[in-house]
Amino acid sequence: MYIRKLFIEVVVLSRTSPIGAFDSGVGGLSILSEIRRLLPVEDLIYVADSAHCPYGVKPIEDIRQRSLEVTDFLIGLGAKLIVVACNSACVAGLDQVRAKYRQIPIVGVEPAIKPAHNVTRNGKVGVLATNLTLNGERFSILVEKYATGVEVYTQPAPGLVEIVEAGAIETPETEKLLRKYLQPLLEKGIDTLVLGCTHYPFLRPVAQKICGPQVVILDTGLAVAKQTARILKLAELETNRTSAGTEMFYTTGEPNAVRSVISKLWGNSQVQVRKANV
Ligand code: DGL
Repeated sequence: MYIRKLFIEVVVLSRTSPIGAFDSGVGGLSILSEIRRLLPVEDLIYVADSAHCPYGVKPIEDIRQRSLEVTDFLIGLGAKLIVVACNSACVAGLDQVRAKYRQIPIVGVEPAIKPAHNVTRNGKVGVLATNLTLNGERFSILVEKYATGVEVYTQPAPGLVEIVEAGAIETPETEKLLRKYLQPLLEKGIDTLVLGCTHYPFLRPVAQKICGPQVVILDTGLAVAKQTARILKLAELETNRTSAGTEMFYTTGEPNAVRSVISKLWGNSQVQVRKANV
């Protein structure tokens, strides 16, 4: 049992409590699947904030508010650690979520600029992300800090989040839109592509087909899963059960509609999706 005292508030976090994660929609499942792989015995709760998706085109204050409310919901369900599995939500509200919930470990995500710096051979890196992520201060700081000596070419990609939300991964229209966004980066000669939105890893096969095998495509799923495991260990919050962990999915949207996409992306036709009234 891990107990941390904050002012007059006492929060008791139990090892057997679930890990909570959220995104504007189903994109964060690209992170959750890596967490599941790395931590097979942990229970997981996921919230797809589908009623407010996409985040990337909304005012920062609105996304910040959603991030606080959804985190509150997850903590209400007993989450022992929160993964903000959305780059846009991290730009808009990670600091505020951490400040408000200091008693709970919060793990964020950011585009894989640092790994890209290590991977690129020709020093040309492309980044595909939402406008909000690319225009945020977090992103400029990341580039300034980790991309020394590397040319970073950015490309906002409106419409891709909606495509993943619809589960329309491998359609001619998806390939056409992705090609439109990747072409300018390929013309710059990039040899490394960073997927800076948690929805985009689901489009990786199409992106790889367009870019060709010589372009290395990076996302942050595994790094975030490793960080989650590290923090659980440090906080002595790893479960001590040995049976397989469970997953519980929630959406603020229409559970039946969201269930079919989650089933497809999670690769399990039996998933149940509940309504999150938040
Ligand atoms: N998955 C979110 C991200 O990583 C998508 C943002 C959106 O909803 O626009 O940024």
